[in-house]
Amino acid sequence: MADDAAVSEFLAVARATVGGSEVLTDPDLIAGYSVDWTRRWRGAAAAVVRPTTTEQVAALVAAARAQGVALVPQGGNTGLVGGAVPRAGEVVLSLRRFDDLGPVDVLAGQVTAGAGVTLAALQAHAAASGLAFGIDTGARDSATIGGMVATNAGGVHVVRYGPMRSQVVGLEAVLGTGEAVSRLGGLVKDNTGYDLAQLLCGSEGTLGVVTRARLRLVADEPHVVAGLLALGGVAEAVALAAALRNDVPEVRALEVMEGDSMRVVAAHLGAPPPVAPDAGAFLLVEAAGHADPTPALGAAIERHAGRADAAVAVERADRERLWRWREAHPEAAAALGVVLKFDVTLPTAAMAGFCAAVSERLGAGWPGATTLLYGHVGDGNIHVNVVGPHPDDEAVDDVVLGLVVDLGGSISAEHGIGVAKREWLARDRSAAEVTAMRAIKRALDPDGILNPGVLLP
Ligand code: MLT
Ligand code: ZN
Repeated sequence: MADDAAVSEFLAVARATVGGSEVLTDPDLIAGYSVDWTRRWRGAAAAVVRPTTTEQVAALVAAARAQGVALVPQGGNTGLVGGAVPRAGEVVLSLRRFDDLGPVDVLAGQVTAGAGVTLAALQAHAAASGLAFGIDTGARDSATIGGMVATNAGGVHVVRYGPMRSQVVGLEAVLGTGEAVSRLGGLVKDNTGYDLAQLLCGSEGTLGVVTRARLRLVADEPHVVAGLLALGGVAEAVALAAALRNDVPEVRALEVMEGDSMRVVAAHLGAPPPVAPDAGAFLLVEAAGHADPTPALGAAIERHAGRADAAVAVERADRERLWRWREAHPEAAAALGVVLKFDVTLPTAAMAGFCAAVSERLGAGWPGATTLLYGHVGDGNIHVNVVGPHPDDEAVDDVVLGLVVDLGGSISAEHGIGVAKREWLARDRSAAEVTAMRAIKRALDPDGILNPGVLLP
């Protein structure tokens, strides 16, 4: 950790580089950068620095190296694993002012976006040119492109378009060495050695600071239909999700909500769900196409779940009302207290068994706790939210993540490792893999100034 004199030297360079008004040290001004959405991960920042150009970021990283000052890159601060908030006296490097959006390149189906552009702004920009962006998530109004690249964000359309790394054609970034790299030419085929852009996807700010991204856009499909189905349990939801994905190519979202979780949301929203409120599980499906996918989706639902209670919505406002039942899950959990959040992938065949076992084990170990299970069933991704146990009770991690590892899953599907799951990395990845990751970290961030304490144990 750098001493006060080193931090002062760094801040002097920072003020000369970005201007005094963009170096924040007032505790009231930096408070919002120092705690994440969960309220669980927080720490003291020495300062917040807000650059606007890649040259400024390069100068700041060089100064941080020279003074041994640790930097925590931060975008919209919507992370959930403590990967973008300070821990003990680091300087937060906020990329929010990189909010420039280039013109949509309709011929290539691409756009260049600054790291601080919000997902919602990018979606609106693409739509204005008759195209769309392949990622959507409930955090769309705050989540920013740089953070979404750094965490390889997922969301509700991964089943159709892949995660953030599938949208990235090229990046501009400043490595931990202080050197800027830029490959924003938009070449889809580019086999010229290591793909640095893909290496930075999911690197959680530990290798470089993403400043701009060249992104693939997808066709805008104006005909959208959403359906909410009440089912017997998670096993039925897994089976129906697979059948709908196979039968209806326009399917772009497949979300599961376990029955008791939906009832927590119902209490939070003060209304019963629009379909059989006592169901064992709920499946939310959305399809989008150039032609109306409603007949095909309706026929597939009839074929595979003819007797299920279902609500179908075509108009945007009606669809948003159905989606509210899924998107309110994180906030309903947070309203109960500090949430222990787990974001895991299971092999598809193990998903239902995992949900049953994790509920049973958490119920037995922490009888007063509330557990919510929901997620992106089309990707094998379940979000386990536990409220009640002390946030530092690692026995909860042992139960949830231990089960995941035993079943051949991944301890992080889309939220990343951050500080929350760091000690678990070596139980998920092999010793050879962790050694290779450390070697990459040393090569690109030789002084360990970028997000120390995040990702690697
Ligand atoms: C979601 O799918 O709702 C997000 O990943 C956020 C969360 O799980 O809290
Ligand atoms: Zn999610």
